[in-house]
Amino acid sequence: MRAYLLDQPDQPLSGADLAAEGILYWQLPTDPAEYEAPLQQIRQDRGYVQMDEVNLHPAVPNLEPLLDKFFTEHIHTDEEIRFVVAGSGIFDLRDVHDRWMRVHVVPGDLVIVPANKYHRFTLEENRAITCKRLFQNTAGWEAIFRTAA
Ligand code: LAC
Ligand code: NI
Repeated sequence: MRAYLLDQPDQPLSGADLAAEGILYWQLPTDPAEYEAPLQQIRQDRGYVQMDEVNLHPAVPNLEPLLDKFFTEHIHTDEEIRFVVAGSGIFDLRDVHDRWMRVHVVPGDLVIVPANKYHRFTLEENRAITCKRLFQNTAGWEAIFRTAA
């Protein structure tokens, strides 16, 4: 994980800085044999009973329209939890002053975006990521796009 304010890329934000914004971050091992136990613990502690895996790469049909959607600023009424197992990606999240915080994620990174925090996502130049998505409940989990004020 590497994070900074989008307009201050030379000033890194720490996990504590993200936590102050309600964003939780864990660095887990990248080896499945090693991340399985801590991942199960987090799932159990936080009630993430459902899990699936998303794999984005250039051969995915409609990748670009999908990315356009992901990169449109939105919130969810539930937490968004992503555990990166391969590839990499970029989350932009609004801080309390409505500035973008940019978070680059790589394998082993587990990020929890709190409910109702504006964010967007895109790929890096490698155009590929594999993430586990964890849910308390998939019902009603949808993007609510930000509208012009
Ligand atoms: C999502 C990410 C892209 O909502 O924010 O799936
Ligand atoms: Ni989202």
